[in-house]
Amino acid sequence: TDPQRIRNFCIIAHIDHGKSTLADRMLQLTGVVDQRQMRAQYLDRMDIERERGITIKSQAVRMPWTVREGGLAGEPYVLNMIDTPGHVDFTYEVSRSLAACEGAVLLVDAAQGIEAQTLANLYLALENDLHIIPVLNKIDLPAAQPDKYAEELAHLIGGDPADCLRVSGKTGEGVPELLDEIVRQFTPPTGDPAAPPRALIFDSVYDIYRGVVTYVRMVDGRIEARDRLTMMSTGATHELLELGVISPEPTKSPALGVGEVGYLITGVKDVRQSKVGDTVTALGRPAAEALGGYSDPKPMVYSGLYPIDGSDYPALRDALDKLKLNDAALAYEPETSAALGFGFRCGFLGLLHLEIIRERLEREFNLDLISTAPNVVYRVELEDDTEHIVTNPSEYPTGKVAAVCEPVVRATVLTPNDFVGAVMEICQNRRGKLLGMDYLSADRVELRYTLPLAEIIFDFFDQLKSRTRGYASLDYEPSGEQSADLVKVDILLNSEPVDAFSAIVHKDKAYAYGVQLTTKLRKLIPRQQFEVPIQAAIGTKIIARENIRAMRKDVLAKCYGGDITRKRKLLEKQKEGKKRMKMVGRVEVPQEAFIAALSTS
Ligand code: GTP
Repeated sequence: TDPQRIRNFCIIAHIDHGKSTLADRMLQLTGVVDQRQMRAQYLDRMDIERERGITIKSQAVRMPWTVREGGLAGEPYVLNMIDTPGHVDFTYEVSRSLAACEGAVLLVDAAQGIEAQTLANLYLALENDLHIIPVLNKIDLPAAQPDKYAEELAHLIGGDPADCLRVSGKTGEGVPELLDEIVRQFTPPTGDPAAPPRALIFDSVYDIYRGVVTYVRMVDGRIEARDRLTMMSTGATHELLELGVISPEPTKSPALGVGEVGYLITGVKDVRQSKVGDTVTALGRPAAEALGGYSDPKPMVYSGLYPIDGSDYPALRDALDKLKLNDAALAYEPETSAALGFGFRCGFLGLLHLEIIRERLEREFNLDLISTAPNVVYRVELEDDTEHIVTNPSEYPTGKVAAVCEPVVRATVLTPNDFVGAVMEICQNRRGKLLGMDYLSADRVELRYTLPLAEIIFDFFDQLKSRTRGYASLDYEPSGEQSADLVKVDILLNSEPVDAFSAIVHKDKAYAYGVQLTTKLRKLIPRQQFEVPIQAAIGTKIIARENIRAMRKDVLAKCYGGDITRKRKLLEKQKEGKKRMKMVGRVEVPQEAFIAALSTS
């Protein structure tokens, strides 16, 4: 295809603002999917995505479109719509799919206005020099206030409120006009057709039948069906088994040229061999320089995952091996815990990533799991000049600590005016530093903070939602590290540390953590033959203490508060007969007590 006739774009939208519905409508209007084939939300393939209503993996679809009247009318164009993931944990994947586009449709629910996540992705798009078409969606809703939000969008990106398009993905109103504007406003791709090929990988998906399917945007040159390919970050070469475009099913094609978007299949079995952000070139005519912007995904949040039934350990390992094929950001290694047995310490991009993996393990692989409280990665410098990277609090180095560094993020919170006070209080309580504050419109405020990541992964989002009645939205991106007054708190049972409960916390919060955990464990651990102290300690200093008195009692009789379904599960487990006991020193503790203590926190 002549690059002049190609338009590559993505849709930036907050969850639930209607991206999938609009994408479906476009597929239908361009004739790529007919009414009969029309599956709801064609682009979201995985079940979990559909159920949770989020898009995790980006994909691309090619659509023909001919402008009906006005400028550029009558000529056929090729539109490549590149789907971007919509959540805070996947910023890097978003940035790579944006890099594959010339333009972005900024889709905003006309009854809600723009949200923090959308704002963050809008800034990413502007950094990538994308042209933006502002679009208000769901104008069929009685609650829609398109005039109000058109003002807000114009204020944000410049331009006239009248330039903001108004559509309904549901009824289709305004969507053909949007397709026309995509052709008119977005620039065609530019690239050197005679240069050695360079293609940007913006997504990489494992398919059980085909192996890894790599989605690319050609920048320079051509890749042909007979080429051998080189991945420029590693120099690894792969045979090209198939190449093509998605429209909406994969369709083979003989070559991909400048500006085209398509897929490559090389027979590799692991997405780590075909990484998002990497540059693909041809072995026979290799490019000298890779495209910019490549970086390795780096886990930000760690948690221990343990099978509730110890005999599931090999199954858990197999399941993680399988998920890894499709997830270059998932990291894990075996770990043993005195309290929980054999499991894995897993690294994730963020909390949502953790939840998705955990849910897939439970649902697709039928595993019952317990996870330890998530923690961030700490860098500990000792006075003997050694440095330790700590991904598991129970492996905190011994020795005199010179400094502890923790990751920080730049957070953006959007909130109605009325809740500014509440938001500030939450952020301040979590060691946030206010960077700035702007009014997007008369009643909506953008607050920018730096916050320790550790404070965000611990129920920040829930707090924010409940204190602002669901109106505030949050986005954040990594922003280096800071040294802080952090200590490791151990929980001791009869003077033996229980590894699963060790935590690294700010000095000012150590006491509260100690009291909370010792109280909780006292209620959960049955009485023993002898009196057992439960203590919280920083080093050798005891900061809290409870006692379990002698004699026995039922575990769950006292397991109140917290998650009902989890408790019901525990009861079922117990009914199954086996009461798995763990010995911590001389103390016999049912594993269920540890699980309950972890899951109700
Ligand atoms: P994610 O996939 O989670 O990012 O969500 P999404 O932005 O793709 O939203 P989706 O298309 O799933 O739509 C969210 C909800 O809004 C669904 O219940 C849709 O039926 C509804 N919706 C989408 N577009 C419109 C519209 O134009 N009008 C009305 N009334 N409802 C819409």
